[in-house]
Amino acid sequence: MTAGSGDGFRAVYGAAPDGVWAAPGRVNLIGEHTDYNDGFVMPLALPHTCRVSAARRDDGVLRLHSADAAGGVTELRVDDLTPLGVVGDRGGWAAYPAGVVWALRAAGHRVGGADLHVESSVPTGAGLSSSAALEVATAFAFSDLYGLGLPAPRLAQLCRRAENDFVGVPCGVMDQMASACCTAGHALHLDTRDLTRRQVPLDLSVGGLRLLVVDTGVKHALGDGAYAERRAGCEAGAAALGVRALRDVPYGRLGAALERISDPWLRPLVRHVVTENQRVQQAVRLLDVGETAAIGPVLTAGHASLRDDFAVSCPELDLVVEASGAAGALGARMTGGGFGGSAVVLARAAAAESVGKAVNDAFAVAGYRAPRVFEAVPSAGAGRVTTA
Ligand code: GLA
Repeated sequence: MTAGSGDGFRAVYGAAPDGVWAAPGRVNLIGEHTDYNDGFVMPLALPHTCRVSAARRDDGVLRLHSADAAGGVTELRVDDLTPLGVVGDRGGWAAYPAGVVWALRAAGHRVGGADLHVESSVPTGAGLSSSAALEVATAFAFSDLYGLGLPAPRLAQLCRRAENDFVGVPCGVMDQMASACCTAGHALHLDTRDLTRRQVPLDLSVGGLRLLVVDTGVKHALGDGAYAERRAGCEAGAAALGVRALRDVPYGRLGAALERISDPWLRPLVRHVVTENQRVQQAVRLLDVGETAAIGPVLTAGHASLRDDFAVSCPELDLVVEASGAAGALGARMTGGGFGGSAVVLARAAAAESVGKAVNDAFAVAGYRAPRVFEAVPSAGAGRVTTA
């Protein structure tokens, strides 16, 4: 089967799709837990994509099938979609595309049914935004099938709404924006307050560098509640400081701001967000002047802040950072929400292999399952792959 050919769709539905749309997973270079604080992020799209083959239906029926999940075809009526309603298994994959259809309709767009077939090469449960890729590919498909002509950032916002209000995950907008708006060869410098953005050239090979993704293969159960807790903590911190969001606390005034927060649990959360925003801006400045290798220590400082202040790391992620650093990497950090998932490692090309091996060896010594290491090549954002 050719990726994006529509053959999988034909096998399930017995006819050709109207088109095939693809949306990538992402890895975040820097700017973690800043997106729900109106802050800055800098993700890049991965070459791994979720592909949605789709055909419009005018009878209000939505049929969903995934090549990667057991359970056959889920059939729903678009009129019956309600936020946090039941879509088969609540935590199941079908809630994501169904949520996108709900969000489009809730925003007043006239979309009806469709047959969808999903195939994804984005690793799941690895903190690489496989859910956002599924949402965004679905949104692009519906925008085209129903002639909505919605711009990519608007589709990303609606995908976030689907995830927040339909699926019930309180994420920020970074993952959906990365999947919808990244371009090949660039990282996306995004202001999550107003979605202003700039494509920052990230040509690693010119500098003799490689960016590795290390998927630890672990997901600690603590993660889900802890994300919401930290999010609430940040909101409490902003309220205590009388600002709309922690993005509004200037780095130069951090000391004074911290003195005004009496709650010892909130203080490090605030410190992380304010310093992390500063690190994003610092990394952008370095990339702009071609000092790519110099972002290494910025990444590692970001990890320390996520580990010590924001408390969202875990032993496996800390070990990636420690072992890669000891093996000569320029910098490393956990990426995504934390409590497992993946880390990014920046290394000179000549050292990349030995860094990967050092991480593998350290995992073996610690008795952890072997991690999956691959290169992050800054890739294109979502789009239509083919007409049939
Ligand atoms: C998850 C969320 C994002 C973002 C990151 C942390 O990936 O989906 O919105 O908050 O965690 O930076």
